[in-house]
Amino acid sequence: MILIIDFGSQYNQLIARRVREHQVYCQIEPPGIELGKIRELRPEGIILSGGPSSIYEAHSPRVAKGIFDLGIPILGICYGLQFMVDALGGEVIRSDKREYGLAALKIRKKGGGVLAGVEKKTRCWMSHGDRIGRLPKGFRITASTENTEAAAAEDAKRRLYGLQFHPEVVHTAEGKRMLENFLFGVCRCAKSWTMKSFVLDAVEEIRGTVGDKRVILGLSGGVDSSVAAVLLHQAIGRRLTCVFVDNGLLRLGEAEKVRALFGKNFRMDVRFARARKAFVEGLKGVADPERKRKIIGRIFIEVFEKEARKIKGAEFLAQGTLYPDLIESRSAFGGPSAVIKSHHNVGGLPKKMKLKLVEPLKHLFKDEVRLLGKELGMSDDVVWRQPFPGPGLAVRIIGEVTEKRLVILRNADAVLMEEIRAGNYYRKLWQSFAVLLPIKSVGIMGDQRTYENVIVIRAVTSEDAMTADWAKLPHDLLGRVSSRIINEVRGVNRVVYDISSKPPSTIEWE
Ligand code: XMP
Repeated sequence: MILIIDFGSQYNQLIARRVREHQVYCQIEPPGIELGKIRELRPEGIILSGGPSSIYEAHSPRVAKGIFDLGIPILGICYGLQFMVDALGGEVIRSDKREYGLAALKIRKKGGGVLAGVEKKTRCWMSHGDRIGRLPKGFRITASTENTEAAAAEDAKRRLYGLQFHPEVVHTAEGKRMLENFLFGVCRCAKSWTMKSFVLDAVEEIRGTVGDKRVILGLSGGVDSSVAAVLLHQAIGRRLTCVFVDNGLLRLGEAEKVRALFGKNFRMDVRFARARKAFVEGLKGVADPERKRKIIGRIFIEVFEKEARKIKGAEFLAQGTLYPDLIESRSAFGGPSAVIKSHHNVGGLPKKMKLKLVEPLKHLFKDEVRLLGKELGMSDDVVWRQPFPGPGLAVRIIGEVTEKRLVILRNADAVLMEEIRAGNYYRKLWQSFAVLLPIKSVGIMGDQRTYENVIVIRAVTSEDAMTADWAKLPHDLLGRVSSRIINEVRGVNRVVYDISSKPPSTIEWE
């Protein structure tokens, strides 16, 4: 395994994903990690990440210096390199000017180590202020750019390597090879991280943790909770009980699909809590999106708790928490996506019911969860499901949520999704959905003037929902969606397409 020390760079999770793409397991830990813990983890190599700090700041993050005496190969990237240089007695030159962007990289002498086999002239991605003034004893410069003499350096004897640029971003042409060199040439890692091996380990671990007790899992039908359910089911069978809350805010046919898939196909113990009425009644007269969310969250917990209390002997609550949530929740630097997931979690429930948490996906990235789902025999239909917000259609009905407006939106959304799938766009889009606006507009149908609702079509491409671009869907597809919605969905006489990107807009309208 590779240990990645998190100095707060925005690219940290990217480093981890790059390592895992090479089938090497890695773990991200904060700089405060103790040497004893590092020894326990027995990493084959350590990567010191980049970060926004200057080594000269009063509270710049540092790892215990002894890390360099463990005899473990280390690769310092950007701030990670500067920390290494400073800690080993070299000198970092303070600078207020940032070097940012592409730079031509010249390899000094054909060497080995991290730069083995790299083209003599290549491109790299720089993003730093401070730079190296003097290297510690034993180091030599291995590559330079016009502005940065020590763009790469090494002490091959001690197996310490440093790159001032970012090998993990695609703009560094040979970054992949450099990481490969470190993982396999320097650290001699084995390619042992596969979903097959993960399943074996995870099943054993779940059995060890849970013993002969029961586990409850809140099933939403989304990728994470679905994959977690199948994995747990494989480990403990009928001692897993899933609770699915039908809040009436789901897409057309969604609740039935979940019932068929998990109840019938996988033969799991799934309890369906039908609570449509409670949610719609709770939302009566409420237009403010944050209030809607709070009400939905509160009713969800009430319903879930009532259902969970019926399950005798349950000691554990399982959640489909993913690695990014785990890293960000404990990172000293905070993170962007933590906020998104908070709506989802059954906050407070475990404590109230004295349940212990099981989070079998907490070391996986989203793309790995999909691979895991495939490994567990799940269909593409579930594994590639687009994200769907916890409060469901309530954030896609602008203004008050009523039974009538839910029907309009659900039917319009169903037409859209049918056409998106038929046109083979479902997987190419991060999300696609319909939104119902709180205004009416004039139209004409036959000889009649109409005064009806407006539906917005939203379709975006994205990597992680932090940024998103509106999808350039073909006009004929949009045309078909529009005429079908207006013809088939009672109460709609106008369809518009949302052509805004995030930022500055958001994906959902709320
Ligand atoms: P925005 O609209 O902020 O959405 O660009 C980013 C991602 O988060 C999802 N989202 C939510 N998910 N509860 C959720 O579980 C919510 O209240 C919520 N609001 C937004 C959204 O669908 C997108 O994937």
